[in-house]
Order: sequence, then C-alpha cells, then structure tokens
Amino acid sequence: MGQPLLEINNLQTHFNTERGRVTAVDGISFSVEKGEILGVVGESGCGKSVTAQSILRLFDEKYTASYDGEIKLQGEDLLKLSKANMEKIRGNEVSMIFQDPLSSLNPVFTIGFQLTETIRIHQKHTKQEAYQMAIELLRMTGIPSPEKRIDEYPHQLSGGMRQRVMIAMALACKPKLLIADEPTTALDVTIQAQILDLILELNEELGMAVVFITHDLGVVAEICTRVVVMYLGQVVEEANVEDLFTNPLHPYTKGLMKSIPQIEGNRSEKLNVIGGTVPALTDIPKGCRFATRCEYANDLCKEKAPDLQLHEGHHKVRCWHYADIARKEAVEHAIPTS
Ligand SMILES: Nc1ncnc2c1ncn2[C@@H]1O[C@H](COP(=O)(O)OP(=O)(O)OP(=O)(O)O)[C@@H](O)[C@H]1O
Ligand SMILES: [Mg+2]
Repeated sequence: MGQPLLEINNLQTHFNTERGRVTAVDGISFSVEKGEILGVVGESGCGKSVTAQSILRLFDEKYTASYDGEIKLQGEDLLKLSKANMEKIRGNEVSMIFQDPLSSLNPVFTIGFQLTETIRIHQKHTKQEAYQMAIELLRMTGIPSPEKRIDEYPHQLSGGMRQRVMIAMALACKPKLLIADEPTTALDVTIQAQILDLILELNEELGMAVVFITHDLGVVAEICTRVVVMYLGQVVEEANVEDLFTNPLHPYTKGLMKSIPQIEGNRSEKLNVIGGTVPALTDIPKGCRFATRCEYANDLCKEKAPDLQLHEGHHKVRCWHYADIARKEAVEHAIPTS
C-alpha cells in the first residue's frame, strides 16, 4: 500500500482554560487510506470532535488552542502550513460535516446562495454555472425538486433536508477526505439510514475517503472498514471492523459492545452503560486512563500507563492485561469435553 491519504502522528491538542492548560487529545495516531471509511467511536467527551476539528485546525491558535505532532495530508504536514495555505485545504481537499446542521447554515441566506458562494470560493465559476452545480449537488444528495428547494431558507427545510444541504456543501469541491462528525445523531432513524446510504454511495462513486465519527457501533458495523476506539483523548484500540466485532480486546471496547445487544438494534441508543464516569481533563489518572472504571485494573494499571501495542495483523490495543483477559474468557466459554 502506498502513502496514506491522511496520517496523524502523535497529535496533541491543548486548550488554555480558566482551570489551566488541558490536553483534550493526547498522542493520537491513525491513518486513513484513499477511499476508505474509518470509524472513530467513544463515549461523549472522549475527544472525537476535538480530533476532527484539529485535522482542519479549526481552533483559535492565537489565544485558545495549540497542537503538537503531525497531521500529514498526502505527506504534507498541515500543522506546518501557513494560515493562507490551510485555507486552501479546508472545503477543497478536506471537508467537514458538523453535528448540528442548523447552526452551521446561515439563517438569513437561501441555501442556493450559500452553496454557490461555497463553490465560487473554491473554484472559478460564474454565478450561473455555480447555481447549476448547486442544483446538481442537491439532486445528488437526494433532495426532491432541487430547482425549487434551492431558493429556500434553512428554516424552510426539515432536519434531514438541512443535513443533506450540509453534505452537498461539504461535497461541493469533491474533497479527497470527508470528516463527518456524528452526521446523523440529530436525525430520526429513517433519515439516518438514508444519509448513511448516501455517504456510502458517494464514497463508492467519488472514491472519497471518510472519517466517520459516531457514538454508535451499529452504524460503524454498517459502513466502516476500520475503527479507532477513543477513551479520554487517546486511542485505546484500533482494528478492522470484523476483528473489532468478533474479538474486541480492550475492556472499554468490550463495554461499548455490551451496550448494543444487536448490531441491527436501535441506532439512536447512546453507548453509556459502562459504570462510572470519564475523569475530567484536569484530573487524568497517572496510569491507565480507563483504570478507574475497569474491573480488571490492578496496581500496575493504576501506576503505569500502557502503550498502544500491536496484537496481531493491524489490531492494536492499549491495555496491560488484554491477553490474560482473553485467555480467561476463552476458558470460561470453553465447552467441557467430558
Ligand atoms: N474549546 C475547548 N476548550 C476547552 N476544552 C474543550 C474545548 N473543546 C472541547 N473541550 C474538551 O475536550 C474534551 C473532548 O471533547 P469533544 O467535544 O472532542 O468530545 P466528543 O468525543 O466529541 O463528545 P460528544 O460525543 O459528546 O460529541 C471534553 O472534555 C471537552 O470538554
Ligand atoms: Mg463531538
């Protein structure tokens, strides 16, 4: 395999807050191959959105945020780019769909105006050409009668329609990479399914790679090829979808799995059945970050942080005891021979 489309190495995102400097993303590494759909999962507050927004350097670097590590897009480190060059990447090479479509659309302009502006910022087209392209994009995202809808304002559209408009905007410049941050969480189940189908279709037709962020392992099973599991700002497990579902290694991932009785279950269900709560960023455990909630944690876990290590093939896990736990579970599940 050649160079990955996106390669994140040891990314850290720090924020200056009233309670001091916190590191919301702490040493994340993963890569995305061309045309791949990578899932990023984890409970609320584990750093999914901060990771997504860091890739496009969306945090204010003057007063609030700073980054360390590398974010290489086709070999070029985005963290080293000037503001002007970074601007060329956003919406062009890499696009993002945010969680809440209403707050991301401007209520005082028609969706047609917003779409044509987006197209014209990034590509040289006349207003008329951009308007026609906008209609085609809306059609592609499955909006009925796009030639009429294009002149409407965001409040005139349903939540699902607005999310489609956001997708149309994100796709306006045929990005190589789409970062979708919980694009379906706010939508009802039928619309969710349609939006997922649409993202899959566009991935196949345009060869666009996707980083798909979600709480929902059911959705991951449906559309992703590989998954990164995050906990408290770090990657705790990474595997292809089959390995993750058939052989989850990290106690946290196992906990997430238990929160979906069936893969085809209720997609709106949040993954929140693991006991205890995620420690605050100002109170990060010195050993394994999951130790405070882990039934297998011992003194070693509480004292020393484990590294992310390679298990087999491309399966990685950050746990001192994963092999022992797997052996113990195998014995417990073994059928007696006599
Ligand atoms: N601008 C900021 N300043 C300070 N802390 C922040 C900022 N943005 C996010 N955080 C903190 O970073 C951590 C990760 O937040 P993030 O939004 O990435 O979580 P998430 O995994 O996307 O959660 P959710 O599933 O609820 O969307 C949280 O503790 C959050 O409070
Ligand atoms: Mg989020």
